[in-house]
Amino acid sequence: MMDSSFAEIIKGRRSVRRFKDVRVSEDTICEIVDYARYAPSDTNSQTWQFVAVLDPEKIKGLAAAIWQTLHRMAQDAASRGMGKEGRLLLRSFGPYATAFTHAPALIVVLSTPYQSKFRERIFDPLDMVPRQVWDLEGTKSSCLAAQNLMLAAHAMGLATCPMTGPVLLAETELAELLGISVERKINMVISLGYPAESPAMPKRKPVHEILRIVR
Ligand SMILES: Cc1cc2nc3c(=O)[nH]c(=O)nc-3n(C[C@H](O)[C@H](O)[C@H](O)COP(=O)(O)O)c2cc1C
Repeated sequence: MMDSSFAEIIKGRRSVRRFKDVRVSEDTICEIVDYARYAPSDTNSQTWQFVAVLDPEKIKGLAAAIWQTLHRMAQDAASRGMGKEGRLLLRSFGPYATAFTHAPALIVVLSTPYQSKFRERIFDPLDMVPRQVWDLEGTKSSCLAAQNLMLAAHAMGLATCPMTGPVLLAETELAELLGISVERKINMVISLGYPAESPAMPKRKPVHEILRIVR
């Protein structure tokens, strides 16, 4: 039987996009990241890293960089006769990809390629696995850490929103603005703060639609 408070933490976490104008302390950030690092990772490689941005002006600057990219893409779309898609990009995807603009904190979740003795001593010498696979392995562990982080934040009375829109649009610009080196991949950004809204839970697919049991 599931512990009821743990069930509430899992089911009650929501993606929140409006936050109270209250700063998140560095101690709180450290505590949340402490929970993230208990996530599993392949051969315990722990290839995740986090950058916490607490300066509101810096956070707004990141959003501005994404809008610049969006406008450039919309212009490019218009010049290729796809003005409608370009306008939709700005009107619909733009606010979704910049929903972190007024968050008091932003956690940039990084992943680095999987490293291990297996890789060094077996896979690399045998040239068995292409580099992209190692990148993806790092990303998998980083995603698990991100989920720990979001559940921990929720359990501590904070709220989060995981976001890959900013990364899809402007990973290079975000990395430059935050001094993130090229061998680190930005997996996602997570806005963090004290919630100023309680969104309803978006509908979930029932278990029978997503599970097949092999007997
Ligand atoms: C991989 C991933 C990328 C996401 N990217 C964005 C995003 O760019 N902008 C945003 O506002 N929400 C983003 N979300 C949040 C989803 O919209 C949200 O998780 C989904 O609607 C379900 O709602 P819930 O998190 O409240 O259960 C993302 C979520 C995931 C898992």
